[in-house]
Amino acid sequence: MNNATLKKEILELKKELHVTIVAHFYQKDEVFEMADFTGDSLELARFAALDPNPNLIFCGVGFMGQSVKILAPNKRVFMPRIACCAMAKMIDANYYDQNVKILEDAGIKKEDIMPVTYINSSAEVKARVGQMGGYVCTSSNAKKIITQARQSGKKILFVPDRCLGQNIAIDMGLKSCVIGDGSDPKVADIICYNGFCSVHQLFEVSDIEFYRKKYKDILIIAHPECKPEVCAASDFVGSTSQIIAYIKNLPLQQKIAVATEFNLVNRLRKENTYILSATKPECPTMNETRLEDLRDTLLSLKNGEYFNEIMISEETRKYAFEALNRMFEL
Ligand code: 13P
Ligand code: SF4
Repeated sequence: MNNATLKKEILELKKELHVTIVAHFYQKDEVFEMADFTGDSLELARFAALDPNPNLIFCGVGFMGQSVKILAPNKRVFMPRIACCAMAKMIDANYYDQNVKILEDAGIKKEDIMPVTYINSSAEVKARVGQMGGYVCTSSNAKKIITQARQSGKKILFVPDRCLGQNIAIDMGLKSCVIGDGSDPKVADIICYNGFCSVHQLFEVSDIEFYRKKYKDILIIAHPECKPEVCAASDFVGSTSQIIAYIKNLPLQQKIAVATEFNLVNRLRKENTYILSATKPECPTMNETRLEDLRDTLLSLKNGEYFNEIMISEETRKYAFEALNRMFEL
């Protein structure tokens, strides 16, 4: 079946059912175009949780659907593919506990640790963070949340993205370390878990040098999941929504190279916008969702055979909510 036929079928099913479709910017174009609302992780969580429809279809990765379920437990949340963000997969509740223990063994008491988890983490990790009085943050508010978390006077344990943690530390003039890098965590203000995004690791300072040499006045824009040296060499660093807003405000003739996922940049691409990589930095798990999956999810709703529904135990949800809600309260 071709895309036009699938899209028609999806629109008809959507009209018939009480369902809202949301999509992250990294989704394939044809899926993205079917959404009622699109945004970055923070905007999607906020919108989806407040949306009055009882059913939500989330085109994105697993932690995004989970965040909605944590915030709005009475809503039925479905995902055409429960694709797991590679970074979120790098930490589970056991790894979290082990890393807290490593810090305790290094002489930092558990009560002196304030955890902050990037939203790219499982409900179980968010629950662990919530139980310790910590916060969730996203790429758009990490600095604000860490500033608030530091009011506790405790050391920040930042999971799972070492790059985001290091980038915020540099921005705030703080000391950071990565657990296992051989340094003493006692001297760091922000202690980062050793996780990363395999897609954003593809961008290199040499790519920036290449473009700066080729186009004298080019602007370099990066997502904060990029390496610290890449962010430091960029002109603007922001979440996906912040990147889009920044580019929209630039004059059309301004040349730009962007260090984030391919589907987003390709959608923005005009003659003057380039992707900052010689390779095609697509997020494999975001790309798993196809129009067929979206159509099948709608059909299953119509037939009352629910599949790929997000379920979280109440015990986990309760603590994960505390960590997410502390972010929303700010
Ligand atoms: P944003 O919150 O900036 O959309 O980032 C989500 C993400 O996973 C980036 O890789
Ligand atoms: Fe996860 Fe990276 Fe994909 Fe974002 S781009 S969803 S951090 S793997």
